[in-house]
Order: sequence, then structure tokens, then C-alpha cells
Amino acid sequence: MTTTSTGTSTGTSPGASPDSGHPGDTGPAIDGDRLMAFVFRAVDEVGATLNAALVVVGDELGYYRALADSGPLTAAELAVATGTDAHYAREWLNAQAAGSIVDYDPGTGRYTLPAEHAVALTDESSPAFLPGLFQIAVGTVAGAGRVPDAARRGTGVGWHEHNRDVHHGCERFFRPGYHAHLVDEWLPAVGAADALRAGASVADVGCGHGASTVLMAQAFPASRFHGSDYHAESIEVARARAVEAGVSDRVTFEVAPADGFGGSGYDLVTTFDALHDMGDPLGAARHVHEVLADDGTWMVVEPMAGDRVEDNLNPVGRTYYGFSTLLCTPASLSQDVGLALGTQAGPARIRELVEAAGFTRFRSAAETPFNRVMEIRR
Ligand SMILES: C[S@@+](CC[C@H](N)C(=O)[O-])C[C@H]1O[C@@H](n2cnc3c(N)ncnc32)[C@H](O)[C@@H]1O
Repeated sequence: MTTTSTGTSTGTSPGASPDSGHPGDTGPAIDGDRLMAFVFRAVDEVGATLNAALVVVGDELGYYRALADSGPLTAAELAVATGTDAHYAREWLNAQAAGSIVDYDPGTGRYTLPAEHAVALTDESSPAFLPGLFQIAVGTVAGAGRVPDAARRGTGVGWHEHNRDVHHGCERFFRPGYHAHLVDEWLPAVGAADALRAGASVADVGCGHGASTVLMAQAFPASRFHGSDYHAESIEVARARAVEAGVSDRVTFEVAPADGFGGSGYDLVTTFDALHDMGDPLGAARHVHEVLADDGTWMVVEPMAGDRVEDNLNPVGRTYYGFSTLLCTPASLSQDVGLALGTQAGPARIRELVEAAGFTRFRSAAETPFNRVMEIRR
């Protein structure tokens, strides 16, 4: 038995009393209540881990959409509405009810998706839209098996080595935030909106599926845009997105690394949530310095972070440190140089980096709970 700090005796695992204390054991006293509180918190965390996949499944099967459009529904009604097996609908609904994502009425056997949850789970145009975040998390966790070996060897796992959920989840997570903030807040905040309205040339570096490139092209018809990314499959999707949006006459895409994309004399260079994924962000910064017009602006958007670890010990920081460990840091380490800035590098580290590349002006221009926007000039 282990003696607790309150002097009572307790086991060290739920429902058992293993003999972990020995005569003369000088280990720390164990507070049994604190131990059990941690065990139950862990149960909740495992429930949350499984819920990430449940959200992705519910999104794909149209469960949230059906509840939003036709709820309250019984499990049988949800199954019919979505053309799915009733057993899956029942268990999924009960998991959602236990997690307080839907409400359950025992009187009617019906489940309701509250209106606010419906916005977050079904409205792709809302900055609160969540399935993309869950999708990239599920895709990231699916690839986590490679991390221990990479950590032992000090090697990386490239962005291109990940599955579809990482690439599409990334687009679906970031696009709503860009849609809400990019044109009306971030570009004016870095002083680039007037030039874009008049007609500017823009390079969007590490553009992925081109969500930001296409949004800017739609908003500024007098300007021209050049998106680039080292990941060929992402560039293929980006080209298709530009065609779908009807902007492909003013948007070009190129498979190219950030330290070697084409063109010069750009009025604006943008980098959205990509600098920290690069193996050589300093090389990228030097290339941007070379290809930017003298009075041009580099807008760097990075995950929201403070400079010190303790600034980031919050739910957003927890999520980003998780992505950093499993996705972004391995991505950087997989490339030449492998600087591994980390998803939560913070503005001071980024300033230091861009100044090393020759830029002299740096300013934090805007922020949201998820992103920090930085204005960088020569
Ligand atoms: C988190 S994603 C962001 C994608 C996109 N900017 C967005 O906001 O949706 C990071 C992107 O950086 C790209 N990337 C990583 N290293 C790169 C490099 N060295 N050169 C160009 N792109 C790179 C990845 O391929 C990926 O598309």
C-alpha cells in the first residue's frame, strides 16, 4: 500500500491496491484523490481522442448535416435520413450525447444538435467551422507511428508522406479563418490592400491547396497571383480550385521549394501557416528578400503563439504543440537544413530569422485566437 500525503492508504491504480510501496521506500507520498482525478481526466481524454474520429465520421456520413436540417431525430430517423445502418447511427449518437455535442431527450428518444454546435460542425463558411481541425488531427494521429523511429534517429517525416486527411483537413481548417479575416482585416493591417485593389503581383509561398491564393484572387481582380509549394499533389489540387473559382486566368501555380520559386519584383509575398514547416525558413526568407520589390511587403501568417513556453500553455498551445511534435517539426526535419522552428516559434524567433535574411522592418500586425499576422519589409 502507498501512504498518501493525507496519511490515508491507497492503491495506485483504479480498483486495485498494488503493493508499490516498500518498507523504507523514500518515493514521494501519493495523494489518492489526486491520482484518481488524473485517471478520470485521462478517461475523458481518451473519449476526446476517439471523438476526433467520430467527428470526422459524422461529417463524412452527413450525420451533423441531417441533425442540423431535420433534427431532433431518433437514431432510426438519422439512419434513414443518411442512408446508413441504424446500429452505427445509434452508437454514434450516444457517443455524441455522452460528449455533450448533441442533447438527448430520454422522453422522446430524440437527439438535438444545438444551433451553435450546428454552425461549428456544418457551416464551412464560418470561422468557427471545426471538422477540418478534427480531420487534420485524425490524419496526424494516423501517421504518428512513424514518429518514435524518427525521434530516435533524428530524422523527419515529410508533409508529402502524410495521408489525405492531413492535406484536405489542413485546407478545411484554415480556409474559414482566411475567409473571415484575410481580405478585410489582415491585408489592410499590413498595408497591402490598396496596392492589391490597384493591381499588384503577389507570390503565395507554401500555398498548399491554394485556399489563400484563390481567396485573394477573387477579392482583387486587378492583381496577379503566383502560388508555389514543394508538394506536387497539393499544387494539382490548387490548380483545380483556381479553375473552379474562375480565377485561373490570373493565378499560376508552381511546384517549387520556398527558397526557389519563380518570378521577381513582387509587391506582396504571403506565407500562410507554412514557414515553420520548412526545413530552411532562413533560405526561404533570403529568397523572398531577393524577389520582393523594394517597397514590397512580406506577410507571414503563423499559428498563434507567444515567445515563451509558458505563454503557450493553454488549449490552443496544447493543440499546436501536439501538431508540432507529430507533424510540423518532423516535416521540417525531413528537409535540408532541418531548422525545426516549431509550430509555436513565437514572433521574436521569427523576427530574428527574417532580420538574419536582411529584412529591417518587422511588426506584429494582427491576430486571431489561431493566427498571428506579421508585416515584414526590407
Ligand atoms: C500547414 S500547410 C499550409 C498550407 C497553406 N498555406 C494553407 O494555409 O492552407 C504547410 C505547407 O507548407 C508546404 N511546405 C513545407 N515545406 C516547404 C518548402 N520547403 N517549400 C515550399 N513549401 C513547403 C507544405 O507542402 C504545405 O503545403
